[in-house]
This record gives sequence, structure tokens and C-alpha cells, in this order.
Amino acid sequence: MIVYRTKKDISGHLHTLRNEGKTIALVPTMGALHQGHASLVEKASAENDIVVVSIFVNPTQFNDPSDLNLYPRTLDSDLELLRHLEADLVFVPSANEMYPGGDAQIFDLGNLDKVMEGKHRSGHFNGVAQIVSKLFLLVQPLRAYFGQKDFQQLVIIERLVEILELDINIVPCPIIREKDGLAMSSRNVRLSKEDRKLAPFIYHTLKLARGKTASLSPSQLKEWVALQFRKQAEMELEYFEIVEDKGLIPLEEWDDGVNKVACIAVHLGGVRLIDNLKFD
Ligand code: PAF
Repeated sequence: MIVYRTKKDISGHLHTLRNEGKTIALVPTMGALHQGHASLVEKASAENDIVVVSIFVNPTQFNDPSDLNLYPRTLDSDLELLRHLEADLVFVPSANEMYPGGDAQIFDLGNLDKVMEGKHRSGHFNGVAQIVSKLFLLVQPLRAYFGQKDFQQLVIIERLVEILELDINIVPCPIIREKDGLAMSSRNVRLSKEDRKLAPFIYHTLKLARGKTASLSPSQLKEWVALQFRKQAEMELEYFEIVEDKGLIPLEEWDDGVNKVACIAVHLGGVRLIDNLKFD
């Protein structure tokens, strides 16, 4: 495994690998790696000759400076895990390396960044699009792997590839959960012991909500979910939406003709947790 810190060095190596006819996969991450990331690397490794993992806490996707400061940084153990997973190249750039000329690029993502995360984290997805487009252009992978926990991000990345007319296959990977159902996330390590015990309530509520689609309309279900969280003093529901899975339009009525995904964001002890569940 080789760790690169500059675009120039990694692109030289990638150029050689491409000339040798190797298939290259990219797994973009912000570090603080867990089993969810490991599953992306494993899948990428099974389907490609070379796996590139990027580790970069991208400042432009944080609308809240304290969230950026508190984001866990665990480079040594990340590299140890990646060595164990036999990743080939790891790219760990500095902010200056990725944004030498600032970060002015604006992407028109239409409705996709106006709902849910986009509504509550202004500029977040533009920042994601900035860094992912830079990584795509640098690595030029055949395939790039993204977890479905960040469902809205995944849909936006698919749109980004269309906007930039890139020939990259986006591979969605299933959410990996702890035994008690909590979706794995780098942010989970910031939960206190007590809050960690409460956190599976989010997935539990998503599953209960899915069981109520025959008797409640989408808006009644939203009210029901809001009520469940009002009963939990420690948790604050930021949003719960049921959207169709392509344009992310929130559903007013049940529509059998579209695939539905319920997405949720919750604050628990100063940590913001997201999750989603397919409602088909
Ligand atoms: O999902 C993440 O970890 C980040 O949003 C990504 C895709 C690595 C971009 O910084």
C-alpha cells in the first residue's frame, strides 16, 4: 500500500497503472473508517485491479465550523485498517493541495440539494460536488463506491457524473449496521455511552413507520414519526421525509409507480445522525 499526499505523485502512478490496462476503483472517504468503509473497499477490491482510497476531511462541505472541528480524525488506525484490507493507493491530501485556488465552483443540482440534508445544511452538497469532482478528475476511476447511508449524496453523485459527462460507474453499497440496528457512521464515536444506547431508536422507528404505510398517508406518517421523537426527550428530529428515489421529490400520496425511500436526520447529544430505509 502506498500513501500519497500530492496530486502530482498519485497521478503519475495512476497514469502508469492505466497504461498497463489495470481497472481502477475509487473509494472517497473523510477517514475515521469503520466497517461500513471496509465493506466499500472489499467490494471495490473484488471488482477491480487497483483500489484507491482517499482520506480528506473536506472543509467546503461543512456549513458548521464546530462540526468540522469535531469531526473525528484517526489517520493512523485508518491506514492500519486499509493495509489490512489490502488497499493499493491511499491519497491523503492537505486542504491547500485540494483547493490551491479557493473553492468557488458552483454546481446546479436542481431540486436534489434543496430538500432534506440540502435544506438543513446550506452549501453542503455543493462542497461534496466540489471535492468529488476533483477526485474523479484526478483518479479517473472506472468505478467509484459510495454507501447508501448517505442516500441523498449518492443520488447527487450520480447527477454529478451526468453533469460532468464522466464515464464513471457509481456503485451503491448497502448500509452496514451495528447488531442493534444503528447505521455505522464516523460520527457514532462521538455519542456518549447513554446516547449510544438510545441511538438504535432511529432505525427502530423507520422500521415501525414502514409497517404503517397501509394505514397512514405520507403526511400522517410524518406526523406519527414526529410524535415518536417528541416522546424522546434526548432526541430532536430534524426531518423525516419519504421521497421517490430519483428526483428526491417528497411524496404527498403513496404512488406504486415509484421507488420510495424514507430519510431521517436526528440530533442526539450534540451529534447529528442520519439514516434511511427503502419503503417498497
Ligand atoms: O461521504 C463522505 O464521506 C464524503 O461526503 C465524501 C464523499 C468522501 C466527500 O468528502
